[in-house]
Amino acid sequence: MAVKIGLLGLGTVGTGTAQILLDPSGRNPLLKEITIDRVGVRSPDKPRLVQFPPEVITTDLEAIVTDQDIVIVVELLGGLEPARSLIVQAIAQGKHVVTANKAVIARYGDEIYEAANQAGVYVLLEAAVGGGIPIIKPLKQSLGANRITEIIGIINGTTNYILTEMTTAGADFDDVLADAQRLGYAEADPTADVDGLDAADKIAILASLGFGGRVHREDVYCEGIRQISAADIAYADKLGFVIKLLAIAKGSAGQESQTLQLRVHPTLVPKEHPLANINGVYNAILVQGDPLGQVMFYGPGAGAGPTASAVVSDVMNIVAILQSSGQAQNLDPLLSCVHQHSCQITPIEAVESRFYARFLCGDSPGVIGHLGTSFGNYQVSLESVVQIGFQEELAEIVVVTHHVREQNFRAALAEIRTLEAIKNIPSILRVL
Ligand code: HSE
Repeated sequence: MAVKIGLLGLGTVGTGTAQILLDPSGRNPLLKEITIDRVGVRSPDKPRLVQFPPEVITTDLEAIVTDQDIVIVVELLGGLEPARSLIVQAIAQGKHVVTANKAVIARYGDEIYEAANQAGVYVLLEAAVGGGIPIIKPLKQSLGANRITEIIGIINGTTNYILTEMTTAGADFDDVLADAQRLGYAEADPTADVDGLDAADKIAILASLGFGGRVHREDVYCEGIRQISAADIAYADKLGFVIKLLAIAKGSAGQESQTLQLRVHPTLVPKEHPLANINGVYNAILVQGDPLGQVMFYGPGAGAGPTASAVVSDVMNIVAILQSSGQAQNLDPLLSCVHQHSCQITPIEAVESRFYARFLCGDSPGVIGHLGTSFGNYQVSLESVVQIGFQEELAEIVVVTHHVREQNFRAALAEIRTLEAIKNIPSILRVL
C-alpha cells in the first residue's frame, strides 16, 4: 500500500520534491509507493510549477500534521515558526518527519530528537546541510567506524559565490552583493548568509553527528564576510591564499574527554588546499577521521533539484524501513539520533590559529619594529611581514603569524592599537 506524505511548503524545495515524486519513471521503484496526500501552503492562489487537485492543497498546516492518513510529514517551510511547532506536533501524532530546516534542528534538535525517540519515529534531515550533497547519512553510517577528528566545510553557497566573484573581478563586497541580489543568488535580506549564521546552523548539526554529542547553537563562534575587502583578497592572493568562509569543527586530538572547536569565519586558505578551489555556489565538506584519513564531499549546496534529491532520499529511507518491518517501533540506531551528553566547546580565546592582519600606519622609521616588539611581548611569532602598498598617505603593512593562542594575539593587537604610528587595523582574519 502506498505511503501517504504531507508536504508543508511548496516553495523552491517543496516544488522540487513534488516534481521528483510526481515523476518516478526511471528512478527507484520505491518512489511509486509514495503519494503526496496533502500540501500545506500560505497562499493557495499563487501560480505554481506543479499542479495539485484543489482538495490536496490547504492553508491549514495543522490539519496536515494531525491527519490520520499521513505517515510522513515533509517540512519545507523554513524559518523557526511555525516549522518547529508543526514538527513537534507531527512527532506527537506518531508521524515520521523529513525536514530541510537547519535553523530549527540546530536550535531545537534536542527536544525534537528526544520526542522522536520516545514516539519511535524518525526525523531525517539530509537536506538541511549541503543541499544535494550526501553528508548526514555518511556521518551517521558510512563513516561510523571512524573517530572523527575534524570537519571543515564551505557550507554556504551565497557567501562562496560572493567571495568567488570578489576574487575573480577584484570587486568589493557591497558591489558583488548587490549584483548577487539582482541575479537572485542572494536574498533581499542577506543576513543569515553573509553574517555566517546559516553556516553556523549547519556546522552545529554536522559537529553533533560527527562528534556524537549535543551541540548548542550559541556555542558556535561566528563571523561573516561583510568586512572582507578587495584589498584583503589581493593581499591574500599575493601571499598564496584565497579567502573562504569556513565552518570548522575540530576535536582536541588524543584527549579522552575532548573539547571541540566550533567556529565559522572567513579564512585565508592556502591555494593548494582542496577547499581553495571550491568556487561559486558550490559547497564542499572535508571530513577527517581515524583510520579513514580525509574524505571530501562536493556538490551543489542549494537549489530546488539538489535539495529535493536529499529530501526524497530521506522519505525513501523511511518508506523502505516501513515496508520491510511493517512498523518502526524499534528505531534503527544508525538513522536516529540519540545523544546523551553535550560536547564541551573550547572558547575562541583558547583556540590556536594563524592570523593575517592588515595595518594602516604612518610611513616612519621603526614602525615595523614597534609592531614586532608588541607581538613579541605576547609570544606572537611572525611568519611574514610585508609592506606593499600605500592607501592615500598611509603605508599598508600585512602580517601573517605562526600558530598562536587567540587571546595572545588579541592582547598584542590591543597594545598595537595604542601605538602612535598605527592609524587603523582594517582587517584581521584567520589563516588555515
Ligand atoms: N542560503 C543557503 C546558501 C542555501 O547560500 O548556501 C540553503 O541552505
